[in-house]
Amino acid sequence: MTKLNKTIVVTGASSGIGQGIAVAFGQLGANVLINYHSDEEGAKETLKQINDGGGTGIIHQANVGIEEEVISMFDRAKEEFGGFDVLINNAGIQQDNTFSKMSLEEWTTVIDTNLTGQFLCAREAIRHFEGKPDTGKVKGNVIFMSSVHDIIPWAGHINYAASKGGILMLMKSLALEVAPQKIRVNAISPGAIATDINEEVWSDETKKKELLKLIPYQRIGEAKDVAKAAIWLASDDSDYVIGTTIYVDGGMTLYPGFVDNG
Ligand code: BGC
Repeated sequence: MTKLNKTIVVTGASSGIGQGIAVAFGQLGANVLINYHSDEEGAKETLKQINDGGGTGIIHQANVGIEEEVISMFDRAKEEFGGFDVLINNAGIQQDNTFSKMSLEEWTTVIDTNLTGQFLCAREAIRHFEGKPDTGKVKGNVIFMSSVHDIIPWAGHINYAASKGGILMLMKSLALEVAPQKIRVNAISPGAIATDINEEVWSDETKKKELLKLIPYQRIGEAKDVAKAAIWLASDDSDYVIGTTIYVDGGMTLYPGFVDNG
């Protein structure tokens, strides 16, 4: 594959989809800022894999829900790399509960990371891109990590689904606002990708069987499935793609119950 001569910031890059994306970009020779919140070992593993693949990276701890920490993180990317081209706005968490039992803390913790965190990181990226000179070419690229639950309702996970539904309109409205400045904004909505966040489901044979009923393509996804979409969206091959969500979900959003419904 051709080298991707870009500098990228990946939030939540110490595990799962964020790690898979950071490593895939690193293997294409990108410079990567690896953000993590609490898993320093995971971030080091991401850096090791990037270096092994020929890329370079730095590790930066920050809680994406805290404004000052986000601002410092983007300042660091500018200092170390002289700027950046792509934000993979990935950090996200689940804290599940039924609605009547859901505490305000479970609600705000998820919204702070998944929605406010994506707002804060996108805002710093856009501020940086807006400051670049006009050359007629793309100035920067923001890729939001959403979820199939930006359109599939999810009982027992209402805080999470609300955060992802919010990302959908945050992404589209922002894409509209900054497209005239040659800044590209899109989203990826993964389905069931085997990571720590849903290990409880895919590691249990009975639950896995139930999950596969929701995936027409009959396999659980891998982080590299999402990374391939991110690489395309970050590249100039998708230059004319603006405000779009790519569903990387094995068909989960296709109403799978209708597959043999007469
Ligand atoms: C969630 C996973 C879930 C998947 C499909 C993702 O956004 O984080 O836990 O398996 O959606 O339901």
